[in-house]
Amino acid sequence: MAANFFKAAIFLGILLHVANSSPAASTLCLDQKQTTFSLNVANDSNDIYFHFESPAQHAWVAVGAGTEMKGALMFFMYPSKDNQHVTFSPRIATGAVEPTYTEEIQVGIHNGSSTQNGKLVLNAVCHNCRSWNGGLLNISSTAQPWMYAFGPTSNPVSSDSMTASLTQHATYGKFTMDMTQATGPGGVPAASSISSGITLTGSQYIKDGDELSVTHGYAMAALVLVFTPILILHLLSGARLRWINYTVFILVAVLGLVCGFYDSMTYNRSKNFGAPHQIIAYVVIIGLLVLPKYRMVSRMVSRHRHRPKTPQPDDRSGWISRIGIWIGMITWILALVDGFLGIKLADSKNYIYVIYGCCIIAMIVVAGPLIWFVKKRHDRREKREDPNGAGIIPTG
Ligand code: HEM
Ligand code: HEM
Repeated sequence: MAANFFKAAIFLGILLHVANSSPAASTLCLDQKQTTFSLNVANDSNDIYFHFESPAQHAWVAVGAGTEMKGALMFFMYPSKDNQHVTFSPRIATGAVEPTYTEEIQVGIHNGSSTQNGKLVLNAVCHNCRSWNGGLLNISSTAQPWMYAFGPTSNPVSSDSMTASLTQHATYGKFTMDMTQATGPGGVPAASSISSGITLTGSQYIKDGDELSVTHGYAMAALVLVFTPILILHLLSGARLRWINYTVFILVAVLGLVCGFYDSMTYNRSKNFGAPHQIIAYVVIIGLLVLPKYRMVSRMVSRHRHRPKTPQPDDRSGWISRIGIWIGMITWILALVDGFLGIKLADSKNYIYVIYGCCIIAMIVVAGPLIWFVKKRHDRREKREDPNGAGIIPTG
């Protein structure tokens, strides 16, 4: 009996010792997301240590120091390429845009970090995180502002690169942390499932997404898959209401392109405007701008040719018109192909490629024969009206 009591006392002593020797920490627990972030501020060095864990269902998970994105220092974690380890990427945000990895922030990963059983676990140290270009950690504050964010549940990042391309958060929230409670001898805090030294501020999971990218994608896809074939049919058939289609075409094009240009500035992968998708898009835009000029020239030459007293000036109007048709066709095909490059740039899921590809096939199956039929009918009409003519597409 006395021996058992003695053993229990020793065991309790060991437990108390372990508990006492665990580094001081403040801990954020987000129960709904099963996410924990514990921070230790070393009083024996300039380091800060943390334990960060979250389910691996999001493309990435991050916490950041600051009240808003601009100037915040953010700690990102995502699965490594082999989905066994965890990649830790410290980044600084210059605004409400994808934060950029910075080598100046010196970090290290400690034992126990992994991606296992569907969970990301990161035990880490940062040697110079108390101030950075754009902000600082106030270690004497009892309400230091922090924030957290979760990437989308689609597109898992799975990369060893600290500069891996990321997509905008699906949810984010803010909290303040008692830094004095987190201060003590330096070390990675133990895992904990209870929040302490934390105050959540505002809504916990603010839903957010990249609407610009989505609007751009839908608008441009509608333009190349729906409005362009309708426009061609209207041009061929000479339908009276084609100005309605023209107006809708231009409005959708402007909406899509403006969203595309703005969205380009959000991501490191596109902010230099030099991605293949963007370069091909410039060629498409030039094609679109050149086409109406061609139509004007073609119309002028055509009118000239049809003037009764003018001598026949060879078949120039037909050629000009045909070149116009080729420019139009090549521009259209480039735009269709560019859609795939856009989907790649947005790092969208594989099924988006499949849907886009199926829409192109459906469009060819429906619009192809229709365009062919209307063109043939138009050529026959042209021949009847002008047996010596070139059978060109109406230009007015
Ligand atoms: C790829 C990475 C990211 C992108 C592209 C991005 C983009 C954006 C954008 C566009 C907004 C404005 C949203 C709106 O007004 O509706 C925003 C807001 C916000 N984001 Fe991010 N973000 C990223 C990562 C993060 C991370 C890692 C955190 C936190 C650790 C975060 C926290 C916030 C917060 C707190 C706001 C609201 C306050 C503000 O506008 O600064 N973001 N973000
Ligand atoms: C030829 C005309 C264009 C077409 C058919 C087109 C189509 C698309 C499509 C389908 C997407 C995928 C959207 C998604 O999956 O969320 C996309 C993405 C994108 N496009 Fe375009 N686009 C065109 C022009 C442009 C232009 C002119 C720019 C800007 C210079 C641009 C910038 C972007 C960017 C930055 C993305 C990726 C957005 C992200 O990372 O989330 N696009 N585009």
